[in-house]
Amino acid sequence: MCHQERVQSALTEAIVSLHEPVAAGMRQMVLSSSVWRGDDPYPGQFIMLRVAEDSDPLLARPFGISGFQRKGEGADVEIMYRVVGRGTRVMERWRSGQSATFLGPLGRGFILPPEGTSSLLVAGGAGLPPLLALARKMQALGRVGELSLIYGEASSDRLVDLGRDLFPGVETATCTEDGSCGTRGLVTGLLEAKDNGEGSHLFVCGPNPMMKAVMDLAAHRCLSAQYSLEARMACGFGVCSGCAAQLASGDYVRVCREGPVFNGSELALHSFGEV
Ligand SMILES: Cc1cc2nc3c(=O)[nH]c(=O)nc-3n(C[C@H](O)[C@H](O)[C@H](O)COP(=O)(O)OP(=O)(O)OC[C@H]3O[C@@H](n4cnc5c(N)ncnc54)[C@H](O)[C@@H]3O)c2cc1C
Ligand code: FES
Repeated sequence: MCHQERVQSALTEAIVSLHEPVAAGMRQMVLSSSVWRGDDPYPGQFIMLRVAEDSDPLLARPFGISGFQRKGEGADVEIMYRVVGRGTRVMERWRSGQSATFLGPLGRGFILPPEGTSSLLVAGGAGLPPLLALARKMQALGRVGELSLIYGEASSDRLVDLGRDLFPGVETATCTEDGSCGTRGLVTGLLEAKDNGEGSHLFVCGPNPMMKAVMDLAAHRCLSAQYSLEARMACGFGVCSGCAAQLASGDYVRVCREGPVFNGSELALHSFGEV
């Protein structure tokens, strides 16, 4: 069976078992499937969720997997999404019991650093969900003490309440652009101010301008980093080449198949597209 056939045969039928707002314009959704054929997802992997049963909108939408739990033969897959356009506005109307179909887990996720490494998660806006999956994985491995989180948003109403059950034991610093919560400014400001940043490994996900700025800073500080890239996706599994990004070497990769997570050493500023 070729990769395309394997991926297509992995279509998962699920129902929405939880769907609630977690911040202004941001929602958490749990998709419960009674039969889970795939492996457990790795942090940084994503699903392609079909938004409509008919053809409008036609293309499935990519969302990072923020949580995963096996339930007997089945599994619960959690996503968090920001309502931004036509597809997510359709999803916003879904109620518990709604049926849904998705492909995944897809792509290559984050590579965990060696034990004992201090890791800094840098999340901007809807870049939080894959980093939440990473924190949960580290927690399951008993490594949560090695993590800290910098999280930024435009304003306080858009910040997801991290509370105790999302990032337990993780030292967290938040910022907002308008100063309505946490430090006023951007995540790069918090990163610059962080005195124990030296030697940390960064895990970064957020809007492309933010990731470019973090990459610039990481280069000046000689910090190693992994970035989860965003690209407009059509198929999500490597056949349409719609998600191509150029590496520092000049080679092109498919963000959905070779990524979405890449090592900073492979990337150039132009690898971050204009999504
Ligand atoms: C690997 C990956 C993981 C993602 N994880 C999350 C997540 O966990 N939470 C979250 O809120 N958002 C996430 N996104 C962004 C999310 O896919 C878009 O916000 C969403 O597709 C917008 O759909 P729309 O129909 O509402 O917007 P529209 O702008 O109407 O969409 C039109 C088309 O553009 C594509 N598109 C639009 N914006 C993006 C974007 N930023 N990235 C990729 N494709 C886009 C859509 O899939 C669709 O095909 C992720 C994107 C990628 C590539
Ligand atoms: S979205 Fe089709 S190849 Fe990546």
